[in-house]
Amino acid sequence: MRAHTIEQTRVAEAFERERRLFADEHPRSRELFDRAGSSLFNGVPMPFMTEWPGDFPIYVADAEGAEVVDVDGHRYADLCLGDTGAMTGHAPPATVEAMMEQFRHGASHMLPTEDSVWVAEELQRRFHLPFWQFALSATDANRFALRVARHVTGRPKILVFNWCYHGTVDETITTVVDGVAGPREGNVGPPIDPTMTTKVVEWNDVPALEAALLQGDIACVLAEPAMTNVGIIMPEPGFHDALRRLTRETGTPLLLDETHTLCAGPGGCTAEWGLDPDIVVVGKPLASGLPAAAYGFSKDVSERFLEGWDPEVSVTGGLGGTLAGNALSAKLMRVTMESVLTQEAYRGMIALADRYTRGVRGAIDHAGLAWHITQLGCRAEYRFRADPPRNGTESVQAEERPLMRFMHLYALNRGVLLTPFHNMALMSPATTERQVDLGVQVFDSALEELMSEA
Ligand SMILES: Cc1ncc(COP(=O)(O)O)c(C=O)c1O
Repeated sequence: MRAHTIEQTRVAEAFERERRLFADEHPRSRELFDRAGSSLFNGVPMPFMTEWPGDFPIYVADAEGAEVVDVDGHRYADLCLGDTGAMTGHAPPATVEAMMEQFRHGASHMLPTEDSVWVAEELQRRFHLPFWQFALSATDANRFALRVARHVTGRPKILVFNWCYHGTVDETITTVVDGVAGPREGNVGPPIDPTMTTKVVEWNDVPALEAALLQGDIACVLAEPAMTNVGIIMPEPGFHDALRRLTRETGTPLLLDETHTLCAGPGGCTAEWGLDPDIVVVGKPLASGLPAAAYGFSKDVSERFLEGWDPEVSVTGGLGGTLAGNALSAKLMRVTMESVLTQEAYRGMIALADRYTRGVRGAIDHAGLAWHITQLGCRAEYRFRADPPRNGTESVQAEERPLMRFMHLYALNRGVLLTPFHNMALMSPATTERQVDLGVQVFDSALEELMSEA
């Protein structure tokens, strides 16, 4: 069967209709955005908030479970979930209660609490690494972990995979385009040319990985177990074995960033796939969306880290953050793992993602489009190409921004929130079948709208 295609003019016209509908139905958000223009740079607290597909973002009035309510009174099935920050669902009751309780006893003492020990023990159990440290964001945890890796190896560079994202970690905001490495497009004020700090190879490219590691100057390979920030790109069979073997042979610590792949299960892909990293980073939903992250490392890394460590001198040593490891985030990490992101909750979340994936796949097939959807645990993402890409470059080449913006705005106008820069749907313990079915139905009718005869 010949695959159908979608005409760009059809997308542009449909987007224009949705843009007007969005503006008409969100007067209060528009008002706030206009007002914000004279105090917030670009009218938003963070630059990425301008990436929502209308002319302005919706302003949130309330959020509970997997539902968001905006200031105009519209209710949304939230399949974005704060781009994983709220994979717990918004305001899970157990977390709310623990937060109120802990705050009465102080949030930030610059001293450990019993909860911090509980959290480290639980992370040990989930990720099979013995020693843990806390940070306030996954970005920070990655930055600190890279410092540790440089410290223990004495090597200058890191290696990442093309089109990765690990937060705003300076060394990682780099790509190779047509064989030329440099700062990624849109990188604001890169401190130094990232080719001085970073090697970039394509995901699933074992020979390129081997050649880069053999040069002996890599302090750390930083990777997601499956790429999730350029669509979901799974490792090919044998890739993780090769990655582990080559990093071991060259004495290069392997850092797995499980911030998004925590969607695979309580111990991320590390536990689900039996991986054996030297360092793991986890953040975002770890404290139900409040600032907290953690990085754990092996006994070997820990011993080498302690060599030459002088606490008198190493007061901060670049691993800082006055509020990091605070009592409130330790409490919230504890309650999140104890009561929210439990093994049982994952079973339900993954079943919902199965349901969504089946529904979207059915709609794609019905429309006869050469698209696909990939699922990883409770996360699923469709892409505008027939086969799953092997690497970041293949995935980026299949990007169609106008089409993506249309799909997202069409969904928004019909009560479904999708992360602006992913075609991703994420399930929380609070997500319902009804919300999943709405996501599928809206996807299906978006395709109908694009494909029906004018
Ligand atoms: C894989 C991965 N690691 C780290 C981060 C950074 O997380 P944060 O922005 O919470 O610091 C992100 C953010 O999207 C991410 O996708």
